[in-house]
Amino acid sequence: MRILAIESSCDETAAAVLEDGKILSNVIATQAIHQKYGGVVPELASRAHQQQIIPVVSKSLADAHVCKKELDAIAFTQGPGLLGALLVGTSFAKAMALGLGIPLIGVHHMQAHILAHFIDDPKPAFPFLCLTVSGGHTQIVRVDGYLDMQIIGQTQDDAVGEAFDKTAKLLNLPYPGGPLIDKYAQQGNPLQFPFPDVDMPGYDFSFSGIKTAFLYFLRNQTAKDADFVTTHLPDICASIQHTLVQILLKKLKKAAQETGIHEIAIAGGVSANSYLRQRLTEEGQKSGWNVYIPAFEYCTDNAAMIAIAGYYKALAGQFCGQNISATPRMEW
Ligand code: KG4
Ligand code: ZN
Repeated sequence: MRILAIESSCDETAAAVLEDGKILSNVIATQAIHQKYGGVVPELASRAHQQQIIPVVSKSLADAHVCKKELDAIAFTQGPGLLGALLVGTSFAKAMALGLGIPLIGVHHMQAHILAHFIDDPKPAFPFLCLTVSGGHTQIVRVDGYLDMQIIGQTQDDAVGEAFDKTAKLLNLPYPGGPLIDKYAQQGNPLQFPFPDVDMPGYDFSFSGIKTAFLYFLRNQTAKDADFVTTHLPDICASIQHTLVQILLKKLKKAAQETGIHEIAIAGGVSANSYLRQRLTEEGQKSGWNVYIPAFEYCTDNAAMIAIAGYYKALAGQFCGQNISATPRMEW
């Protein structure tokens, strides 16, 4: 079975080709245009998807040495995401499937982040817990099967990726700030500036308070020393990163203890964070978990994850018709 997969939920236009569960190609065009605005501008994202989708899909087919007539189905990100951005991928997938007379598979973007663990070995065994951390989501998901997942905890306000990006913006770092905080933090002391942790019930998270605490901290420090950010950037980045990662690991640890599940995975853009990867590995060794961390290329948005999710949906016969529409607030 050959599947073409398309991802266009945010600021990455991506396409991949999969054959019988194996990824043959994985093409991503990142939209640099948002950098100067300090965040994704939805209208500009839609326009860039329009411009990039044909070259990206053509390259994915060429890289895979598959011609479009050899495709059996088209998988696409149905949601969640930005409406205009999703519409580009959805409309393209529908038109192409109609033209080729092949079925469509609508994929949930966050479920695809989790299923990216089934692209390469080692693969987690069911049931496993997945800490799913991206620019728009922060969840702990209990995964009982490829298509059987349940959110057991999630953020009640901002996502952790958003917390990384917003604190980076306060430090005058360009969007997306998460990878830059990670980079500067490598030279800094994570315990230099302590920030408060907010206690949330169960396995839920909250990141809006920490953002405000960070804002006041910067205001106070720069009032005393105008060069505070430039002279202390590595320590500031390391400290904020440490606080965010502590919050994530505390809840993940609680979930592992209380469910008794010791197969632990991370997914989503923030799973590219080197400190989170290191701390999770250490925690896994200490607590006797089997830890699964995706390859960097499958952490941030990509179409290979849409392809693998589409593959498992196809095996389960979960195709959709031409009446499908982009779903910005897609239910689980
Ligand atoms: O999964 P993703 O590519 O897109 C969404 O579905 O949202 O995640 C993007 C998020 C951004 O907030 C970005 O700053 C964050 O992932 N991110 C990182 C790192 N790489 C990407 N955050 C911290 N450290 C990183 N190395
Ligand atoms: Zn994502």
